[in-house]
Amino acid sequence: MNILVTGASSGIGFQVALQLSKDSKNKVFAVSRSDERLDTLKEEAVHQNSEAQIIPLVGNLSRGADIERWKEEIMEHCTHIDFLVNNAGSLINKPFLLLEDVDWMDVYETNVFGIVKLVRMLFPLMERAPEKLTSNTSLNQSVRAHIVNISSMGGVQGSVKFKGLSAYSSSKAAVINLTECLAEEFSAYGIAVNCLALGSVQTEMFSTAFPDFKAATTPASMAAYVADFTLNGFQYFNGKIVPVSSSTP
Ligand SMILES: NC(=O)c1ccc[n+]([C@@H]2O[C@H](COP(=O)([O-])OP(=O)(O)OC[C@H]3O[C@@H](n4cnc5c(N)ncnc54)[C@H](OP(=O)(O)O)[C@@H]3O)[C@@H](O)[C@H]2O)c1
Repeated sequence: MNILVTGASSGIGFQVALQLSKDSKNKVFAVSRSDERLDTLKEEAVHQNSEAQIIPLVGNLSRGADIERWKEEIMEHCTHIDFLVNNAGSLINKPFLLLEDVDWMDVYETNVFGIVKLVRMLFPLMERAPEKLTSNTSLNQSVRAHIVNISSMGGVQGSVKFKGLSAYSSSKAAVINLTECLAEEFSAYGIAVNCLALGSVQTEMFSTAFPDFKAATTPASMAAYVADFTLNGFQYFNGKIVPVSSSTP
């Protein structure tokens, strides 16, 4: 399978890429701005499986030119992408009245527009030819591609909200709604789109949001769920927002 994971240089995304690379048949395209951290990912992946295939895609999700370059780099290795995990995320912890336009843009450029641009670029590599989608099979049987958007419990309507996270949480609410819209538009093309709304996981981002707390879930543990859902969840879900949290946040 050909799988692209964004935000693969740290936290949950690093572990998702690592776990997916245990299967030598998987080509894992790993996106982040840090080439050094992606090199570390590759080293660890090869250490656990000498035939692991990690292909670093270095760049910034908020830069259209980087995303276009990734397409060329991907096509040097394969002609289609089966699974996309939109995991990269940016968080600013600041009271609403202190947030400046540049803060809002930073968060939305990565968390929302980054997904928009990446999905637009990858769509031709993910869509399935209509003749392969027989009309009498359900989407779940015929679908062969899956987009998994990583949101947050903070983006879920009615969940507990926290001071300082208005830019982040509202961007994650946008990811949730975007998931439902894309699922509707892409079902005819054999692409399922789902969203995991995660609870707290002990990562760099969590420490920025909640410096005084320790999360009960490790990145490796959450990544195991995300990786499995990515490979199998489309058989059961489309356009769904799945909360993955044993506590709040
Ligand atoms: N940790 C939690 O408690 C928690 C809870 C709910 C939801 N989530 C969600 O889970 C996802 C992963 O978060 P995490 O906790 O693992 O965070 P993390 O450790 O801070 O990792 C964030 C990742 O996103 C990448 N990234 C950020 N901005 C980018 C950009 N503009 N272009 C390319 N890559 C970018 C970072 O890579 P570089 O800096 O190397 O570019 C890094 O690999 C996020 O979407 C987050 O919102 C986390």
